[in-house]
Amino acid sequence: MTRQVTLGLVGVGRIGVMHARNITALNGILNPDGVHLRLKLTDVAEEHARSVAGEFGADFLPSVPELIASGIDGLVIATGTATHPDLIRAGVDAGIPVFCEKPVAVNVAESLPVVEYIREKGGTVQIGHQRRFDAGYLEAKRAYDAGELGWIHSLRAVTCDMTPPPVEFLATSGGLFRDCSVHDFDILRWLTGKEIVEVYAKGSNNGDPAIGEVGDVDTALAVVTLDDGTVGTVSASRYNGAGHDVRLELQGSEGSVLVGMDQQLALRSAEPGIVFPAGTPHKTFAERFDQAYRSEMAAFVEVILGERKNPCTPEDAVAASKVADAAQESLETGVPVRVAP
Ligand SMILES: NC(=O)c1ccc[n+]([C@@H]2O[C@H](COP(=O)([O-])OP(=O)(O)OC[C@H]3O[C@@H](n4cnc5c(N)ncnc54)[C@H](O)[C@@H]3O)[C@@H](O)[C@H]2O)c1
Repeated sequence: MTRQVTLGLVGVGRIGVMHARNITALNGILNPDGVHLRLKLTDVAEEHARSVAGEFGADFLPSVPELIASGIDGLVIATGTATHPDLIRAGVDAGIPVFCEKPVAVNVAESLPVVEYIREKGGTVQIGHQRRFDAGYLEAKRAYDAGELGWIHSLRAVTCDMTPPPVEFLATSGGLFRDCSVHDFDILRWLTGKEIVEVYAKGSNNGDPAIGEVGDVDTALAVVTLDDGTVGTVSASRYNGAGHDVRLELQGSEGSVLVGMDQQLALRSAEPGIVFPAGTPHKTFAERFDQAYRSEMAAFVEVILGERKNPCTPEDAVAASKVADAAQESLETGVPVRVAP
């Protein structure tokens, strides 16, 4: 018997449209398991939202209260970061599971009351750290957990966009570490099971001066130290002309792995005669993590159905945000910063 699950999506901007597409696409994948997804959506940009609803066969609702009142089984939040706390509370108050794009709020101070609220009300909120569902990161974690890498001596994480998002978005994003590198901080914790305890960050602004004018940097690098003393680097840029480049290199006493070394890798070898990679580099995060975003949304449906434990809790997300906050502080002060326990 087919079970129907209705998802209510708030926000159909860059990532919201992708979620709408994935939710629609999941029907073909989930249907054989007897789940049919129905999509309802809203956005303050009404005309645009109506057109997205039309494109994906979704119902348009004029506001969040009306979306919730229309009867949904789960709320998907894909609005700008500053709106997350209120929308999470609205979903929790309605007694339905919530999926919210990362991060919980613009910084840790604003996230903690939200996490407390969720805990008090017994809410379920899955945060969107999609790399936890990416095949490459999953394989690296399997190899690490199985002891195939031995002990890790060096970690190198890279996240580079081809071009910056609009400056209006950057102005409210919390900065490059909170917006971009937070994914690397999350995945390092998730993969190693260790905490990042100290960060030393540097940044630069050689692209659009408008990025500096809103208080952000276009490129940055953080040296991170894990709780067992292991060191690593986490770097990010908004100007990677070669393509969208996301990698994680784990080098260990017994073996090494590189996540992201597929045929779409946005790097070419400088060695003569090497033809790898053969494909065209990914251009956007949506392309790079297509499979991961779908698996993440499928996981949320399983959470709604009570068939799966929450794969990324608000506490997980705040732990990564604490590292991002420390990195931002280090960037601004020029000294290493201990991560808040
Ligand atoms: N997981 C990832 O890889 C990833 C990637 C990109 C963005 N994000 C996160 O997703 C969120 C959205 O980012 P984006 O780039 O799609 O932003 P965006 O600005 O492109 O889209 C946001 C949309 O939300 C709508 N909106 C804003 N406030 C609203 C409200 N109160 N009610 C209804 N609609 C509202 C806007 O009109 C807009 O259409 C951010 O928090 C960002 O951190 C995550």
